[in-house]
Amino acid sequence: MRKLILLCFLLFFSCSKDDSTMDPLCCVHESITYVPTENLKDLASFPVGNIVSANKILTNNQFRSVLLNDFNSITAENDMKMANIFIGPNSYDFSDGDIIIDFAQQNGVRVFGHALIWHSSIPNWLQNYSGTDNEFEQLIENYIKSTVSHFSQQKMLIDGEEVSVVAAWDVVNEAFTSQAESSIFRQRIGDNYLEKCFTWAREADADVKLFYNDYKIESIPSKLNQVLNLIDDFRINNIPIDGIGLQMHIDHIDPNLVQIKNHLDQIIEKDILIHFSELDVTVNRNVDISELTYERALSQENRYRDIVETYRRVPFENRFGITLWGMRDIDSWLLNHHNNPLEYPLLFDTGYNAKIAHRGFANGLIE
Ligand code: XIL
Repeated sequence: MRKLILLCFLLFFSCSKDDSTMDPLCCVHESITYVPTENLKDLASFPVGNIVSANKILTNNQFRSVLLNDFNSITAENDMKMANIFIGPNSYDFSDGDIIIDFAQQNGVRVFGHALIWHSSIPNWLQNYSGTDNEFEQLIENYIKSTVSHFSQQKMLIDGEEVSVVAAWDVVNEAFTSQAESSIFRQRIGDNYLEKCFTWAREADADVKLFYNDYKIESIPSKLNQVLNLIDDFRINNIPIDGIGLQMHIDHIDPNLVQIKNHLDQIIEKDILIHFSELDVTVNRNVDISELTYERALSQENRYRDIVETYRRVPFENRFGITLWGMRDIDSWLLNHHNNPLEYPLLFDTGYNAKIAHRGFANGLIE
């Protein structure tokens, strides 16, 4: 017995952090990375996405190959937002978006358009626009119609069927916040600006799916109710809306799964497309670890599995996909947003090795 304990003890300490999962003798699997045997996109019954920039696509071979290995849907992290496109009155720069569309077309991956109207992406000249409210409204109508029409021209063949490369747009992003309430869109176009924006997008493209996208829909009851009311109001008034994007910037602990399921189920009841549009999972909100520990990585793995499994409550025909908001931990917007360089919210480490969070995501996909 003593010998056995000693053997286990020796084995435990002979397993180095990074190669423990590779060593068949090891009884302890304590690595925070692993070697995947299957690609996420092949395991999934819906598109699995990640974010890109034109610059990364053009300059980073490793990024491109990791992206195409696991993902079949892409969203521009910033390049297709208003501040990047709308360079002056009736003047547009689609060049970065075009690079992204071109890449998607060549590789047969879908593009999710993000985002036409967002209070945090207003070009300075528009913020300070001195024309009348009517002129302002006309500019926004032209911008939405020009942008949607421009990108709707690009088609590709998927399973022998011709489809638009840009499958959907987040038409309005984060309208139910105090900043959006006081944004120039509501002030200058009026309380019905959401209805108008969705209608203009539909007029520009009869087929592209139109989404309303927001954060904390899964955790704040009042936000959920605003979204549910929006769906009802739009339907009663014949305003087009096809889907809801839940950003899903969540933590490994909060909000609890019961609440997420409860909120999701209420959206499912509306029989509408559902996109988990910006998924990431923080593990260090209290800054109580100085590197990603195995224990925290494991908690994150389980969380990713639970979230992906939860997404499968959505009926097949309404599954528009899950998009992750970044590839490597160090690429995440959250490091800046939370002013915490010690955050590890994504599926890959700095060397593009898959973290066990990736295994959690993969396991959540298995029906
Ligand atoms: C973020 C980008 O990741 C950052 O690079 C940028 O500085 C700000 O925007 N909700 C959204 C996304 O809808 O567009 C945001 O993306 C993250 C929060």
